Amino acid sequence: MNARPPDFERLLKAAVLKILQETPSVPMETDLNPSNLGTREYWDDTYSTELQNYEDSNGVDVGEIWFGFESERRIVNWISKMDILKSAQILDIGSGNGSMLLSLHKNEYTNLTGIDYSEAAVSLATKVATDRRINTITYRLADITASAEAQQSVPEIFDRKFDLCIDKGTYDAVCLAPENSKEKRVAYMENVAKILHSDGYLIVTSCNWTKDELITQFTDFTFIDELPAPHFQFGGRSGNTVTALVFKHPVQRYRCLHK
Ligand SMILES: C[S@@+](CC[C@H](N)C(=O)[O-])C[C@H]1O[C@@H](n2cnc3c(N)ncnc32)[C@H](O)[C@@H]1O
Repeated sequence: MNARPPDFERLLKAAVLKILQETPSVPMETDLNPSNLGTREYWDDTYSTELQNYEDSNGVDVGEIWFGFESERRIVNWISKMDILKSAQILDIGSGNGSMLLSLHKNEYTNLTGIDYSEAAVSLATKVATDRRINTITYRLADITASAEAQQSVPEIFDRKFDLCIDKGTYDAVCLAPENSKEKRVAYMENVAKILHSDGYLIVTSCNWTKDELITQFTDFTFIDELPAPHFQFGGRSGNTVTALVFKHPVQRYRCLHK
């Protein structure tokens, strides 16, 4: 008995296409165990303590550098190796105490912005820059997973294009969120793709995901380089090697999609 309608193949193709169109580009079968490292409260507590330590140390102790100073050095080295303009617009996503941007400032990059969803982190980073009389770094309170509506309150970030976005440990934190982590990961990808210039670079440092896993998840971007990485431990999984990858905005794909 053949119960298939005559246009079965066409219907099947349409159904598959619909499923593909509705499937977010981040493959969601890969999940980390939720952790308090994925909550804003955790980072507010952490940076409130670091702010207190900074003040108690008379501005000497700026706090923890995630993945160590070496990870910052590798990023700065890659940027200078690529001959990226000193005036390039650089965004540090989840800038914490601002140490990454201080390193870039020391290396004479002049157009530096940091965002963090933790008010305490933004206060600490702003205080450190102000105390050092640095006026080329701007910090803003902003959630990289913000909805289109929430983005309207930070137009100076979400209505702008950056030449280079740096993420050191922030995508890891987003993935560890105890609530709506899948939706947050999708929003992260969409928002970063939106604010990154069509010929811009994204440098992601993670200790929870391997190189292959990151490439599989950052499907909206094109992988172009890997930075040599040390070993480190952080939430989710332990004993992992830190992975630091460089992606490019997939200009071609976006032009094709939005013509
Ligand atoms: C592991 S720490 C890394 C801090 C800094 N990048 C560094 O390397 O020292 C993660 C940072 O991301 C921030 N963060 C986490 N989720 C965020 C989000 N959705 N939007 C903005 N910042 C976020 C946290 O507040 C914290 O400062």
